[in-house]
Amino acid sequence: EWNMHDFCQKQIDIIMSKLHGKYVVGAVSGGVDSSVAAALVHKAIGDRFRPFMVDTGLLRKDEARIVKERLESHIPGMKLKVLDATGDFYKELAGVTEPEKKRKIIGRLFVEAFEKAVSEMGLPHEDCLLLQGTLYPDVIESTSYKGPSSVIKTHHNVGGLPDRMKMEVIEPLRLLFKDEVRALGRELGLPVTSVMRHPFPGPGLGIRIIGEINKETADRLSHADDIYIEELRKTGHYDKIGQAFAVLLPTVRSVGVMGDHRTYENVCILRAVTTTDFMTADWYDMPHDVLARISNRIINEVKGINRVCYDVSSKPPATIEWE
Ligand code: XMP
Repeated sequence: EWNMHDFCQKQIDIIMSKLHGKYVVGAVSGGVDSSVAAALVHKAIGDRFRPFMVDTGLLRKDEARIVKERLESHIPGMKLKVLDATGDFYKELAGVTEPEKKRKIIGRLFVEAFEKAVSEMGLPHEDCLLLQGTLYPDVIESTSYKGPSSVIKTHHNVGGLPDRMKMEVIEPLRLLFKDEVRALGRELGLPVTSVMRHPFPGPGLGIRIIGEINKETADRLSHADDIYIEELRKTGHYDKIGQAFAVLLPTVRSVGVMGDHRTYENVCILRAVTTTDFMTADWYDMPHDVLARISNRIINEVKGINRVCYDVSSKPPATIEWE
């Protein structure tokens, strides 16, 4: 009979049999899939696994530091290298507003950061295997996505590495569905905080700033988002929601009043959906007192936002993300 303990041991054997004295490198985001994949590979090969994380400047508030602390404490002995690429991302994204263009730039910069991280480790490419946290639904989705007409948004991942960087790929999660990945994570000793997390898209806050991305708009959004998620966790709603996040409308300004002063600032949208597969989704029926508290906190605490709205659109016809 199939069980997670045996599956885990089998994947460890496979990884070790492919190693032949090489190293495994992999980009870790701190999401469920990459965290579980990292825990598995570290368990198999210890410091022959060299994980790194790219700080794109488009992550959640303090995310690089928090993920490093969390994973290093939950995966004893593993060292996560953080590569700060925030300057490159803000520089190349300046003035860009078109969603697909943003995605392409972010994807390209991610590959460049990836290449830099590997070269800083001082390991020749031919001595490295590449870890990817691909799941079974990703495998199905990429083979059923036939033509450009069916592609609504370009999803980026490190699958698109340039030829000069081609490495043999290992995908220990490719037979698993999401709930099985969570079970494997528990088997590997990861706590609930690491295995029960909402997904976060590769382009990060970049596709939640509806307009130009820069440090100011990214900081504004990550602050609002942080308050939102904190309140959802405190009130127990986080675990009932499939995905929740804030969106910033940097080109829209609305008039408000603060004390005796007129304000003229940005609008922040709150989005929360329930879903089983992210192909369809319903907006989450959030209690009004929870919304009221989040709205008050964001308007009072985040400089540059004076209005908060709740998104009541389901997918389809709206997508989950705004871009
Ligand atoms: P949509 O907006 O298409 O989102 O309804 C469905 C799910 O996919 C995530 N998403 C992305 N994930 N790169 C990613 O890694 C992307 O470019 C991207 N775009 C959307 C989204 O967060 C949701 O979970």
